[in-house]
Amino acid sequence: LSEIKALCEACEKCELCKTRTNVVFGRGNEKAKLMFIGEAPGEKEDLSGKPFVGAAGKLLDKYLEAVGIGADEYYIANILKCRPPKNRDPLPEEQDVCIEYLREQVRLIKPKMIVCLGRIAAMQLIKEDFKITAEHGKIFKKGDTLICAVYHPAALLRDPRKKEDMMEDMKKIKAKLDEWKDAD
Ligand code: URA
Repeated sequence: LSEIKALCEACEKCELCKTRTNVVFGRGNEKAKLMFIGEAPGEKEDLSGKPFVGAAGKLLDKYLEAVGIGADEYYIANILKCRPPKNRDPLPEEQDVCIEYLREQVRLIKPKMIVCLGRIAAMQLIKEDFKITAEHGKIFKKGDTLICAVYHPAALLRDPRKKEDMMEDMKKIKAKLDEWKDAD
């Protein structure tokens, strides 16, 4: 993983390399069974070099804590490793080049379950026409890996009515982790 991180830090495959402060590679347990994948770094992430450390990340932490998923039980990364200016949506061509780094991360971490945070990650990793409102919390299977999507925590900040669904989905994810713990 450190080799891929070094490649990201030297990457100039898209224009975002010109405006980034730091590459935001990922953080957490590199041997975790659970991997969260967001969209792209925001300002706080760009400044710190760590994913999900801003307002959305703090809200995600609250859900993780509420359902009892510990900081050592997951790895977290984004589709894009560099911040899009003014947090605009990632462009398709930016996603297409950057996702190769993420695929390498997934290959090395080998999670049993991937949780997409929001629509952009779900459309990339589950299916192109993924509908987050209708399909959040639904568990799909890709090879040996389970994959699902939940609302992006930033969407919960904009629309608190989604919070109840988010809690249900996070409980479901925790239950999967517990199943594997029992089987170990
Ligand atoms: N939103 C994301 O999708 N990723 C981050 O790292 C921070 C906010």
